[in-house]
Amino acid sequence: MSMIDHTYIEDIGTRVGEEVVVKGWLYNKRSKGKIHFLLLRDGTGIIQCVMVKGVVSEETFNSYEELSQESSLEVRGKVREDTRAPGGYELELSFLKIIQIAQDYPITPKSHGTAYLMEHRHLWLRSRRQYAILRIRNEVIFAIRDFFYRRRFVLVDAPILTGAIGETASTLFETEYFDQGKAYLGQTGQLYNEAACMALGKIYCFGPSFRAEKSKTRRHLTEFWQVEAEMAYYQHEDNLKLQEELLEYVVRWVLDKSTKELEILERDLSKLEKVKVPFHRISYDEAVKILNEKGSDIKWGADLGGDDETILSNLHEKPVFVCNYPKKARAFYMKPHPEREELVLCADLLAPEGYGEIIGGSERNDDYDSLVKRIKEEKLPLDAYSWYLDLRKYGSVPHSGFGMGVERLVTWICKLPHIRESIPFPRMLYRLYP
Ligand code: 4AD
Ligand code: MG
Repeated sequence: MSMIDHTYIEDIGTRVGEEVVVKGWLYNKRSKGKIHFLLLRDGTGIIQCVMVKGVVSEETFNSYEELSQESSLEVRGKVREDTRAPGGYELELSFLKIIQIAQDYPITPKSHGTAYLMEHRHLWLRSRRQYAILRIRNEVIFAIRDFFYRRRFVLVDAPILTGAIGETASTLFETEYFDQGKAYLGQTGQLYNEAACMALGKIYCFGPSFRAEKSKTRRHLTEFWQVEAEMAYYQHEDNLKLQEELLEYVVRWVLDKSTKELEILERDLSKLEKVKVPFHRISYDEAVKILNEKGSDIKWGADLGGDDETILSNLHEKPVFVCNYPKKARAFYMKPHPEREELVLCADLLAPEGYGEIIGGSERNDDYDSLVKRIKEEKLPLDAYSWYLDLRKYGSVPHSGFGMGVERLVTWICKLPHIRESIPFPRMLYRLYP
């Protein structure tokens, strides 16, 4: 017999007046003597169950005492609308079956330190905030896929084990690969995306990226999910426009679909409502000038630091593009600026409210000779890029693309203090467990 003959809490509003079965876990409980209140969660919501002496069997009523936090339960009861109940509905219990009485649950309603919670991440996921974040993450990912599907982009998966360095040699995870020498865990799918867009026009990949980041910041993971788009015949400006439309779409989607979750997180929705195209654009030159005025000691030529990004991202209510960085602060594959050869045609998109970079993108260098020169300048092994250079030999065209980190995006949309809560099981410098 099937075990899924029950109602999910998120659907309970459609069953008012009916008798339903709910299966879940005990989130919390309290009693007024002759009435016990059980807060039951099932992954789709939380419902208050009311157990009245005399309505349920004596044995069931008394079982209240042994019901510990996170015990698994099956209950049956009548759905009642009640504005005082959390969620607006409650269940008048007629029957309760204990599946398992949980042992002393390590995460109690009192507050715990983050280190302790991270050590119990496998259980922490059951808490209300974490539940809300993961449900928003789900909507974010779905919205991204929907956006690209509607625009007839083709999803092309990039490999994770790679032979060529995608971004920078300083943050590579390496492994021996049989008799083929070293393999790296992909930092980006971009190089493969470039091949794919020459075959399919507009494409994206969506999967895990790896960076051996030795820094402990609130913005860095060693494993994160990246969505990367690549478009043949798109130039720099077309690329920026696509990025802002994507972001507007995703934020709108979350505002529409994740109302309850954003409420649990106490997110200020007015900030998200402001995410409307067009976004602000400033040049790298301007950014350095503004930063120096604001007291940053950044020198022209250097990449923006985390604090610099925070300053810039606090200046505007909308996301802001910082455009055209110095060549030496960027990866080898970017197209040189047509008028200023020390710059490249690229942009980072900074999220507002101090969150900093969430997208990195550029027009790609489509010229064989100058690309070879850049690969040599960066002391990268030319033969590993032989296939990549082929793309500049056989019908090379202007093309552009970008990569957006899902966790950076979720962290900002949910206004989290740290990126570690935006992914189910974060991987960081000091964290491989659980
Ligand atoms: O700016 P990045 O390094 O760009 C690339 O990898 C390009 N190849 C993308 C492309 O053009 N196809 O990374 C892109 C985005 C960043 O803006 C950020 O959102 C995220 O990936 N990201 C990280 N997220 C979490 N932890 C890290 N260590 C991250 N590094 C990058
Ligand atoms: Mg970047």
